[in-house]
Amino acid sequence: MTLSHPSSSQPSSQSLPPSYFEKIYGENPDPWQFETSEYEAKKYAATIAALPKPLYRSAFEMGGSIGVLTHQLGDRCEKLLSVDVSQIAQAKAIQRCQNQPQVRFEIMQIPQQFPEEQFDLILVSEVGYYLSLEDLHKTQTLILNHLEPGGHLLLVHWTLYARDYPLSGDDVHDSFLSLSPQPLQHLAGQREAEYRLDLFQRVA
Ligand SMILES: C[S@@+](CC[C@H](N)C(=O)[O-])C[C@H]1O[C@@H](n2cnc3c(N)ncnc32)[C@H](O)[C@@H]1O
Repeated sequence: MTLSHPSSSQPSSQSLPPSYFEKIYGENPDPWQFETSEYEAKKYAATIAALPKPLYRSAFEMGGSIGVLTHQLGDRCEKLLSVDVSQIAQAKAIQRCQNQPQVRFEIMQIPQQFPEEQFDLILVSEVGYYLSLEDLHKTQTLILNHLEPGGHLLLVHWTLYARDYPLSGDDVHDSFLSLSPQPLQHLAGQREAEYRLDLFQRVA
């Protein structure tokens, strides 16, 4: 995962705002090389392979970006809601998933906004470290309230250092692990050279 970030001297204690992402996508339509990187393709394959169920009734994806992973996830869902703060990125995702009527898109800034429905899968891939610790805790509460009993939560995050990010990938995963074994059961964990994947199930 390579990207040159806008400069700042210190990591922020605030969540990164929508303008941060609109600027990045305005300068480069695929800033993380989601469409072309072998690393991302392998990570996406591992992400999809980690899903325990062949088909989810209603899934939620936080920070769907330009929709490369969204499109793969869509094939495993009867319904999928993908949200992002970036209009520029989401326009590409909508185009990419136009052959998937089960995939729906909304512009939403988490945790200030969150969908009202219940899900049997929530995917948090490469987005948790953009939140402040306070917003991560709010997001965790929202996830717990909107993940149905037995539902799966899948986290995937890059684990190297990025100067601008309020949290590290490990901060995000360790914070969810502290919610185990109740109300989240930890089903699986995988650590690779540059990313980490953890799967949880909502305990009734
Ligand atoms: C690095 S991309 C990850 C894309 C995709 N999930 C993946 O794993 O390939 C992170 C995305 O999260 C979005 N994002 C950042 N903060 C967000 C927030 N608070 N709420 C919703 N989306 C957010 C960004 O606009 C960006 O498109």
